[in-house]
Amino acid sequence: MHKDRVAILVGSKGRGSNLGALIAASTESDYPAQITLVVSPVSESAAVDRAKAAGIPVAVCSPKSPGYAEELLAFLDKDAVDWICLAGLMTKLPESVVDAYSGRILNIHPALLPKFGGKGMYGHHVHEAVIAAKEPVTGCTVHVVTAEYDEGQIVLQASCPVSSDDTAETIALKVLELEHQMYPAALRKVVERGV
Ligand code: GRF
Repeated sequence: MHKDRVAILVGSKGRGSNLGALIAASTESDYPAQITLVVSPVSESAAVDRAKAAGIPVAVCSPKSPGYAEELLAFLDKDAVDWICLAGLMTKLPESVVDAYSGRILNIHPALLPKFGGKGMYGHHVHEAVIAAKEPVTGCTVHVVTAEYDEGQIVLQASCPVSSDDTAETIALKVLELEHQMYPAALRKVVERGV
């Protein structure tokens, strides 16, 4: 079975739980994508360990480096990736990378966009804002990446209830569990049916 090639870009904190979920899905014989490259800003993290344990090549490429855009593009082009999934990368992708892979870059956000997105809306900030707004429901969103934070077409969303005794920590756990189900499903959807 042909499998599209996918690069996963992880963050500097590099927990890599979504990377783990995508790796697990991609090892299923009927899954239409394979993870061929992991790009990390740091050479050591839990995400890097997960990639290595699965035998996936890791490219280290930091957004702080002056040649970041060119270096990143070179790694992606060399690996001939069809899709890019952001999983924990907190920095904006350079415009040249977004342009080169336009419509083929996905991100996962821990809220129901367009609510609770944009600059500064990441990690616990998102869940604290959900509580402050007394939202009865939250969730996660996989969307196409554009040059702006958390904009771009929504591919898939999943939701979970917020109760009065929830904290940012309990919501984070519930949402992360949803993310692990939904990111592989969203990637499957775009590979099989397009964005
Ligand atoms: C997730 O919460 C995701 O929504 C956000 O970054 C986090 C990455 O977590 N974009 P992990 O590294 O995949 O565990």
